Parts: sequence; C-alpha cells; structure tokens
Amino acid sequence: MTAPLGIIGTGAIGGTLARLAIAAGLDVILANSRGPQTLSDLITQLGPRARAGTVTEVAREADIVVAAIPLSAHPALPADELAGKVVLDTTNYYPQRDGQIPALDDQTSTASELVHAHLANSDLVKAFNNITFASLGNGARPPGAPDRSTLPIAGQSASAKQRATDLLNQLGYDALDIGDLDGSWRSEPGTPIYCDPYMPAWPTEPMPLDQLVAWLLAAPVIPLSRDAAQELITGAERGPAGGYFPETT
Ligand SMILES: NC(=O)c1ccc[n+]([C@@H]2O[C@H](COP(=O)([O-])OP(=O)(O)OC[C@H]3O[C@@H](n4cnc5c(N)ncnc54)[C@H](OP(=O)(O)O)[C@@H]3O)[C@@H](O)[C@H]2O)c1
Repeated sequence: MTAPLGIIGTGAIGGTLARLAIAAGLDVILANSRGPQTLSDLITQLGPRARAGTVTEVAREADIVVAAIPLSAHPALPADELAGKVVLDTTNYYPQRDGQIPALDDQTSTASELVHAHLANSDLVKAFNNITFASLGNGARPPGAPDRSTLPIAGQSASAKQRATDLLNQLGYDALDIGDLDGSWRSEPGTPIYCDPYMPAWPTEPMPLDQLVAWLLAAPVIPLSRDAAQELITGAERGPAGGYFPETT
C-alpha cells in the first residue's frame, strides 16, 4: 500500500496542497496544532482520500511530509519521527508573525537551513514557498500544458529533490532545482521569483482581509516557464531577510 502524503499545517498552503493532492489521486493525512478532532469539517470537504491525525501520526505514517506551518512553529516538528523522511518545507520568514530571528536577520542562515538544523536527520526540500496559496491552487496544470508553471525547489539530497520533483509533477507543476539550502534565499520573500511573477500586480489600496483573499482567489494565474524561472533565480540579489504582509483595513 502506498503511504499517504503527510501534511502538517492545514491552513492556506496545507489545505490547498491537500486539495491538489486529492485531485491527483493521492491519499493524504493531515495534522494541525489543535488535534485531529478539530479537522472534521476539512476532512468532510476533502472526502474519503483524506484523514486527520496527530502531528506524530502524520510523521510516522507518511514518507513525504509537507511542513506548512509558520516558521516560528518549526521547533514543534517531531524530529525523531521525521528522521529518514522527505520533508517539504514551505516556510517563509515574516518577522511580523515569527518575531525577529537573528540568524536570519544577519544572513547566517536561510529559513530552511534553520528548519533543517532542527530536522537534522530528515531530507529537507524547500518547496511551495514562493507562490501564494491562491496561485498555487488555481495554477496547477497537467504535464506538457502550455500554461504550466515552474516552482523552485532546494535541498541537499538529490534523491529527495527527485521525489519532490515527482510530487510537484503530479500536483501540476514543473520543478526547478536551484541548489542547496544555503542558496534557498534565492526564492525567499523579496526575491524576483517570490509570488509576484505568478499573479497580477497587488491592489494599491489596503482593503479588508476577506476582500484581499477574494481578490487573490479570483486573480488570473500567470504561468512561469522553466526558462523564465531560471532567469529570475539567476538574477536574484540577496537583500534583507523577511517579508511583510500587505496592509489590510
Ligand atoms: N499563505 C500563503 O499564500 C503562503 C504561500 C507560500 C508559503 N507560505 C508559508 O507556508 C507556511 C504556512 O502558511 P499558511 O498561510 O498556510 O499558514 P496558516 O494559514 O496560518 O496555517 C498554519 C497552519 O499551521 C498549523 N500549525 C501552527 N503551529 C503548529 C504546530 N506547532 N503543529 C502543527 N501545526 C501547526 C496551524 O494549525 P491550527 O489551525 O491548529 O492553528 C494551521 O493549520 C508559512 O510559513 C508561510 O509563510 C504561505
């Protein structure tokens, strides 16, 4: 029996990835911070391929686990149970949410190197961090589609990156290997490939959060080819770490 895809964090990104995985015919096991009993509505929406577990159960039962949680929560990931697993790290550094993290502020580390320092015995691949949940959900296309998009991945293990590439392929995206985790700043907030290439320009006036979410979900997806993605990665220059959330009213 094939292991389910594990997803820790069932918010915007985790929920979107669960939908894409189920549409691709995968089984998923999901966990949040509050326990499986709080996920019954989501599991009902997702249907019979989805089930809820504790964080530990997800880590034990899945071979590939997506960590779709705030960066500041990464110390809660169970390192022992995730040892030997491929972990896809979606996290980004947002000081407004995560607090100031000196090793990121002084560029000693990238966000994913920080997560990998905690999950030292897992094969960590940074993935799905540079696209909004809305573009991610709306932009999936089958292999070979002319409007299929490319997403960067980074990590130390070639075999883990191959498994990530296969998963992205199933979910509707081409993967572009951008190297090791120390170079993963090239897809972090503030870089040219971060979110903006896949969507129209952000609204210029602040609006209520629910309206901004509706705008994001209704926005057309702009496909990003492999060559265009490579150009953005190559042209990236390292600036101050961390992103900021758009102002809302
Ligand atoms: N939103 C985007 O468009 C987007 C795009 C790319 C990357 N990212 C990055 O992806 C990560 C997740 O973002 P998001 O927007 O999906 O966040 P979100 O909507 O706020 O969801 C966060 C999820 O993480 C869970 N969580 C928090 N602490 C946890 C813990 N200790 N153990 C288990 N689960 C925990 C939460 O559980 P509860 O519901 O129980 O609190 C929630 O399900 C962030 O690092 C973000 O920067 C986000």
